[in-house]
Amino acid sequence: MGARRGRLIIVDDEPVILDLLTAVFDGDDTVEISCFSDGTTALAAIEQGVDVLLTDKNLPDVGGLQLAKRARELHPDVEIIVITGYASLDTALAAMELDVFDYIIKPPKDIRDVRRKVHQALDKQAMARENRSLMERLTERNAALEAALQELQELQAELIQSEKLAGIGTLAAGIAHEISSPLFGVMGLAEAILEEDDQQLVRGYASEIVDYSRSIKDIVIQLSGYSRTASSEYFTTVDLPSVIEDAVKLVARSLSFDPSRIELRAEPALYVNARTSEIQQVFVNLVKNAVEAVVDRHGAVLDDQPFPGLVEVSSGRRGDHVWATVRDNGSGIPADRLKAIFDPFYTTKPPGRGTGLGLNIVYRIVTKYRGQVSVESQDQQGTTFTLRFPVDDGEE
Ligand SMILES: Nc1ncnc2c1ncn2[C@@H]1O[C@H](COP(=O)(O)OP(=O)(O)OP(=O)(O)O)[C@@H](O)[C@H]1O
Ligand SMILES: [Mg+2]
Repeated sequence: MGARRGRLIIVDDEPVILDLLTAVFDGDDTVEISCFSDGTTALAAIEQGVDVLLTDKNLPDVGGLQLAKRARELHPDVEIIVITGYASLDTALAAMELDVFDYIIKPPKDIRDVRRKVHQALDKQAMARENRSLMERLTERNAALEAALQELQELQAELIQSEKLAGIGTLAAGIAHEISSPLFGVMGLAEAILEEDDQQLVRGYASEIVDYSRSIKDIVIQLSGYSRTASSEYFTTVDLPSVIEDAVKLVARSLSFDPSRIELRAEPALYVNARTSEIQQVFVNLVKNAVEAVVDRHGAVLDDQPFPGLVEVSSGRRGDHVWATVRDNGSGIPADRLKAIFDPFYTTKPPGRGTGLGLNIVYRIVTKYRGQVSVESQDQQGTTFTLRFPVDDGEE
């Protein structure tokens, strides 16, 4: 009959019946039996705990149904079997109300029937208990899952927030990076004005300051709206050689490098459909890197000595694209680093000198205009960056 142990309380005021009912369970050690001949003492035992209550309906003190009611209040999953002299409608109704498991008419015809019923009640109870514990576990799991879900959602919200902040950080760094060259140019020119008496020259410097300030403004406007995809309504036909010339002048000024040391070669009539300020940024970054690499390898330029450094910017057109190269004989890039140079914040320069954003900005601008950028380099020999922009003659 299994190892399950249920606590059975039998209440009947007729000693013969009580003996009979108890005898039925002789040798059945799966049930622990307590017998009572009155309601009051039975009640005290019920309070201690009961699994199945087998009670006479009519008891001298506390009625059987009353006992059952109390047992149900104390132990909601108790199973109740009522013993009754005759099966009246009243009894049946009361039994239904109490959700009584079954009832036994006395004297029982087959005494084994009683044992069977008690065991059926215990089976039902065991199943109900198991169901309940399954339910509880399920509820617990659900609660745990819900908590995990909530935690994930919070984490996701945090991540989105920090990603946004990181994006803003990158944007701010990008703007700072891009405006620093024209800003240095403005500063240099403003200082020159302070020491210049020639009105003609002062006017020339001032107009350069206006140009640089305009690029700063353009850079800020265009970088703040970076996420927007390029829309052709903003494009103009960019005169490539003249933008390259401006970029070279700007770099030379901001790095105090003699611009005549930068060689420019350009085929005539080269145009790219883009924003002027962005194409200028591309060349400012590439030329700046080239000058820095050249100075890094050959040392600073000294007025009275020949400088072995070389920076050369060439451009031309071939078939359906316009190309440009920025070549230097500077420190070069070791082959295993070539992959990383376009990553944001990748730099080999000391803190304060490089942020590692230059080439990332170049890459973003060039690819935005469906162009390509590639690099060839030999460590301690030099580097060549090559750009290609598609030319759509139909739109020109
Ligand atoms: N012409 C070059 N010659 C040698 N190394 C280069 C050249 N151009 C780029 N690099 C390498 O690629 C790295 C990344 O260049 P990038 O322009 O993105 O950043 P950076 O120049 O270090 O800093 P930033 O441009 O933000 O001031 C450089 O630190 C350098 O190691
Ligand atoms: Mg750079």
